[in-house]
Amino acid sequence: MNLIQANERLTQKSFYLPNEIIGNIITLKIISLYYLNEYYSAFSPKVQRMLNISHADGTYENTKKYLIKKNILQKNSEQLFYFIFDNFDKKLIGKIEIRNFNHKKGQLGVWINEKYWGNGRYQEALKLISNLYFSYTNNDYYTAQIHEFNLRSLFASIKYGFKFSGKFILRNNRRYYNMYMHKNFI
Ligand SMILES: CC(C)(COP(=O)(O)OP(=O)(O)OC[C@H]1O[C@@H](n2cnc3c(N)ncnc32)[C@H](O)[C@@H]1OP(=O)(O)O)[C@@H](O)C(=O)NCCC(=O)NCCS
Repeated sequence: MNLIQANERLTQKSFYLPNEIIGNIITLKIISLYYLNEYYSAFSPKVQRMLNISHADGTYENTKKYLIKKNILQKNSEQLFYFIFDNFDKKLIGKIEIRNFNHKKGQLGVWINEKYWGNGRYQEALKLISNLYFSYTNNDYYTAQIHEFNLRSLFASIKYGFKFSGKFILRNNRRYYNMYMHKNFI
């Protein structure tokens, strides 16, 4: 079941997505083109390399197109897409999204600017988006694909509770671990 189907089931509950979810050290804010410039500034070359996005693809124009597309998907309830803001300096530091069930890259998409790594922000972002996903949909789990050499992402996700779900996935000749997060793991 994808997010749309799940959402249709839940329409009678009149459950609306919150614009903002405030945590202890980070805040999630729902996607909006208003933050395009801040988003682009935080989307560093290092993060782009780790996401296998080439220098040629990571332009301002492409980032704008990407956010416009994501904004439409969000309005159609096909994903949950939030910017991550740091509570201390109030800056946009990344994004976290859970895409629909059949997405070829798996459901979880996330990055945080490297200046903000290692202090629990990713763990809290996962907690906030997972709680939202499991209350907003009737799904019991969501998936993630993590590149075999992306040890930082792999260990951070295992720390939160992700489990391996079988074999590697091959995408563009690169091997990714196939992982999932079940609602009983949190
Ligand atoms: C993935 C990402 C959001 C994780 O955020 P983070 O703040 O770095 O994560 P955490 O600090 O919670 O966890 C990182 C863990 O990996 C460990 N780690 C880092 N490098 C490692 C390595 N080379 N080998 C083994 N473990 C490593 C850290 O020690 C830490 O674990 P610990 O807290 O138990 O010590 C962030 O690194 C990022 O944005 N990366 C670029 C984009 C990306 O890769 N996105 C994910 C695509 S699947």
